[in-house]
Amino acid sequence: MRERRLPLYLGTAAALLLVAGAMSQEPALKPVATVTQLMQAMVIPASNALFNLPRQVPEDDQGWSEARNSAVILSESGNLLMIGSRAQDSEVWMATSRALVEAGAAALKAAQAKDVEAITEVGNQIIAACESCHEKHWIR
Ligand code: HEC
Repeated sequence: MRERRLPLYLGTAAALLLVAGAMSQEPALKPVATVTQLMQAMVIPASNALFNLPRQVPEDDQGWSEARNSAVILSESGNLLMIGSRAQDSEVWMATSRALVEAGAAALKAAQAKDVEAITEVGNQIIAACESCHEKHWIR
């Protein structure tokens, strides 16, 4: 009888250890910057680079590489706005963050195609995302 109970007991202990292990695990995502820092380090410089591009069209691969990098930074910053303590319980916050992801992705596609006209149009999409979020969430 004892021999039959032992494995059951061990199985339960193992299951409890697994649960305890899962509970003590660090969260996978760890936001470091405040929203303002994210704006300053990523969102503002990357969007400025894309806004300025039509007036200063890249003349070499280096320039287009920088344009693609700006689009990557801007797009992914939208994802970063949606994680951890930065995410706000608001439809506007999540929708405008996603809009930033989409606009950045469109800018990346346009930069890959070296399509200045498309980047100009995406600029309006980007500004709309910035303004829609600020309207509700930037308390001045
Ligand atoms: C999902 C919401 C959201 C989006 C999208 C967003 N912002 Fe912001 N932004 C904020 C919030 C919130 C603040 C104010 C943070 C604070 O004061 O705590 C801010 C602050 C700023 C500031 C002031 C930074 C400072 O130094 O005080 C600038 C400039 C700015 N954003 C530019 C932009 C631009 C440009 C875009 C679009 C390319 C953009 N933001 C998109 C939420 C957003």
